[in-house]
This record gives sequence, structure tokens and C-alpha cells, in this order.
Amino acid sequence: MRALAFGLLYMLLWLEPAEAQFPRVCCTVEGIVSKQCCPALGSDSADVCGSLSGRGSCSAVRVDSKPWGGPYRLRNVDDRERWPTKFFNQTCRCTGNFAGYDCGQCKFGWTGPNCDQRKAPVERKNIHSLTPEELQEFLNVLELSKTTTQPDYVIATQHWLGLLGPNGTEPQFANISIYDFFVWQHYYSVRDTLLGPGRPFKAIDFSHKGPAFITWHRYHLLSLERELQRLTGNENFGIPYWNFATGQRDCDVCTDSLLGGRNPDNPSLISNQSRFSRWGVVCDSLDEYNRLVTLCNGTSEGSIQRGVMGGSNMSLPTMTDVRSCLGIRDFDSPPYYTNSSSRPAVFVLGSTLGGVFIGLLALALIFVLYLRQRRNRGFEPLIKADFTNRKYTEEA
Ligand SMILES: *[C@@H]1O[C@H](CO)[C@@H](O)[C@H](O)[C@H]1NC(C)=O
Ligand SMILES: *[C@@H]1O[C@H](CO)[C@@H](O)[C@H](O)[C@H]1NC(C)=O
Ligand SMILES: *[C@@H]1O[C@H](CO)[C@@H](O)[C@H](O)[C@H]1NC(C)=O
Ligand SMILES: *[C@@H]1O[C@H](CO)[C@@H](O)[C@H](O)[C@H]1NC(C)=O
Ligand SMILES: *[C@@H]1O[C@H](CO)[C@@H](O)[C@H](O)[C@H]1NC(C)=O
Ligand SMILES: *[C@@H]1O[C@H](CO)[C@@H](O)[C@H](O)[C@H]1NC(C)=O
Repeated sequence: MRALAFGLLYMLLWLEPAEAQFPRVCCTVEGIVSKQCCPALGSDSADVCGSLSGRGSCSAVRVDSKPWGGPYRLRNVDDRERWPTKFFNQTCRCTGNFAGYDCGQCKFGWTGPNCDQRKAPVERKNIHSLTPEELQEFLNVLELSKTTTQPDYVIATQHWLGLLGPNGTEPQFANISIYDFFVWQHYYSVRDTLLGPGRPFKAIDFSHKGPAFITWHRYHLLSLERELQRLTGNENFGIPYWNFATGQRDCDVCTDSLLGGRNPDNPSLISNQSRFSRWGVVCDSLDEYNRLVTLCNGTSEGSIQRGVMGGSNMSLPTMTDVRSCLGIRDFDSPPYYTNSSSRPAVFVLGSTLGGVFIGLLALALIFVLYLRQRRNRGFEPLIKADFTNRKYTEEA
């Protein structure tokens, strides 16, 4: 797993040093105009990127200049092309195990003031085997993350050409909660390209239907887990996983003591006995954003909707289904996008069930499935990976 964590981080932090959209301190007129996001670490303004203690330095962003393939044929119209250079072309490049937009953090898996101590791996438990205290910690921290403003990052509410507002003096960014920031980043990576009113370009998805799927989501989940650890003050906190391969019709985490049962009066809502019935949904009106040629601004768009199982005779996959998925020898085939001919069906499970958490929890298992699959095929960075369902991450 160590190899995966490093391979992944190397890829993500090296290619995308800004890491997320965008550090609050960089979202000023000056920051946007200069395209520089190299904050000082701490109060000494000379300590950019922690350079005084050798943690990093302000460097030109390097992005892959290879032409892109797949169905995306546009050039220079989408904010996400050659990320993040539409916004910033100089960011902190951290040395050693330092990480973060100001080199103030450690890479996943490391801790200590110099980021040179291994962090104990977290235990990723089955949600059904959490103790009552662990379950409460998990549910409480989810709730806290939903109501706590993300301290370090803000979201852009306009795309890059309109980022400073009509007069060029008002940065178009908004606060968002820690949990909603996680949702927003997911939305931002999948959204359509905005070409003008009623003209979205839909043949793009930067985090699904292609080779980035696993690594993107892996990093996304590790980032959320780190935020939750920070909120709980428990650096060993681990997001639990849900084993969906029960073969049952009913979803066994959809109960009021876990992620919320069905509302008896309206099966598309969550039972009002669950705390999640009070959660608002964000970033769910993709057609609306396309129509208005705008971005999700993080405001609540109503209660969480519980997906209704398609056919009346539909059920969750069985372990046999899972094993047959693991037995697939070729995970994907060129051109590695929507037009690929082979891709295991298990990957659509999260969305067919509906519900943000379910997708999230399912990810944990999906990763395990995928890693096994890759290991069978000798996928280089994962070949030495050693994991079980219970403990599969180095990150803590
Ligand atoms: C970065 O962007 C600024 C502002 O547009 C520009 O002046 C500068 O030349 C760019 N630097 C690099 C290395 O691209
Ligand atoms: C933009 O500038 C104009 C003229 O200076 C001013 O009247 C207007 O209020 C400004 N708009 C905003 C949104 O600041
Ligand atoms: C955003 O949050 C920060 C930190 O919590 C706060 O200082 C700021 O006033 C907020 N801005 C807005 C527009 O709510
Ligand atoms: C919760 O739902 C029940 C039945 O669906 C209803 O009778 C009750 O008034 C609701 N309570 C609240 C606080 O909405
Ligand atoms: C946020 O976006 C929605 C549409 O998606 C819009 O109705 C609302 O006015 C926006 N809120 C702000 C504060 O811009
Ligand atoms: C589900 O039911 C439909 C018709 O009711 C039938 O055509 C289909 O084969 C059934 N699927 C399974 C998996 O049993």
C-alpha cells in the first residue's frame, strides 16, 4: 500500500501542486492577477512555502503538455485544461515528505514536525463492526464537517474569465463547509464544459470513465479522511467501509441508526428520525448550471433524496458477483474512456443506489476490488501491495 500511496501522491502533488480549488489566501485580486499561489507558512511573510525551513519553494507549475485523447476535442475553453494553469502558474513545490498548498502538511502516511515519522495505518472497519462509540464518532464528525466552514479552501463561483467579477475587483469565491467542499470538488471534476447558454459540452469527465478514476477517488477519500481526523482531533480516525455485496434487496446501512432509513411518507426522502434528513444537498443541479452558464455556488438545493431501486426485482450484488468482477483479466481497453469496450459493471453501483454516503462508503470496497484486480495483473505500483478488507491504507 505504501507504494500506491507514494505513486499516487507523487502523481497528484507533482502534477497538480495546487491540489484543490483554491487556497483561501490565494483568492485575492492580486493572487489571481499574478497567477501566483505561494503563501507564507506562518506569520513571517518571507517564509513562502516554508522555504526558510527548507520545506519547499515557489516554483513554476509544470503540467503535461501531451495532446489529450478521447472525445474531448476542445482547446483553451475549459478551466480544467492543464490544471491549474488557467488560475495559477506558480505554486509551492514541497520537498521530502512535506505537502499542502503552503508545505505546512505532511504527505499521507507521515507525521511529526519534520514529517519524517511513519504514521500508523488507520484501520478501515466494516461499518457494522464499529463499537457504539466509534459509530457515534463517525456520525458526529460527518455532521460537524457538514456545518463547519472549510478553513483553508474556498470555491470559485464563476469560471476563470469571470473570476474577478464584472469590474475585475471582486473575486468570485464563496465559503463552503468541509463536507460540501468534498462534494463540490467531485462536481467540479465531472461537470460539463460551459460554452454558453444552452451549449454545454458534455463529452468530458475528468474523474470517471477513464484511467484517473481510481487514483482520483482514492486521493479524494484520503483528503476527506484527513479533514475528518483534524475535526475529531483523532488522527487515527478511519472512514469505515460498507460491504454492499450482500445479495439482498434492502440496503443494510439505510437505517436510522446508520445513514438513515426511508421516510414512510415519502420513499424518496430520508426518515425524519435520522439526522441526515436535515442535510441539504449541494451541486446537484447540473442542467441548471449549464443553462445559467455558471458553477455550483454551494447553496443548499433541498433535502437528500434517497434513490429508489430500479426494477422491483433488483438486488445488490453478491460475493459471487464480486468474485467474478475480480476475475476479469482486462480491466479496461483502449481508448480508456466512455467508448472503451470493457469496464466492470460494479463501478456504477454507487450511483444506482443514490445517496452521497453510500457512494462514499462503497468506494472503500471498490478500491479493494480494483487493487486485487490490478495485483493479479501485476500493475507495477501496486504489485507489492499487501492489504485486507480490514486494513488497506497506509494513510492515517
Ligand atoms: C504566469 O502568469 C503571469 C500572469 O498572467 C504571467 O505574467 C507570467 O509570464 C506567467 N509565468 C509563467 C512561467 O508562465
Ligand atoms: C463597478 O464599477 C462601476 C463604476 O465604477 C460601479 O458603479 C459599480 O457599482 C461597480 N460594480 C460592482 C459590482 O462593484
Ligand atoms: C468566510 O469564512 C471566513 C472564515 O470562517 C470568514 O472570515 C469570512 O467572513 C467568511 N466570508 C463570507 C463571505 O461569509
Ligand atoms: C416525522 O415523520 C412522522 C411520520 O412520517 C410524522 O408523523 C412526524 O410529524 C414527523 N416529525 C417531524 C418532526 O417532522
Ligand atoms: C447560487 O446559485 C443558484 C443557482 O444555482 C442561484 O439561484 C443563487 O442565487 C446563487 N446564490 C448566490 C449567493 O449567488
Ligand atoms: C426482473 O423482472 C423483469 C420483469 O418483471 C424480468 O424481465 C427480468 O428478467 C427480471 N430480472 C431478474 C434479474 O430477475
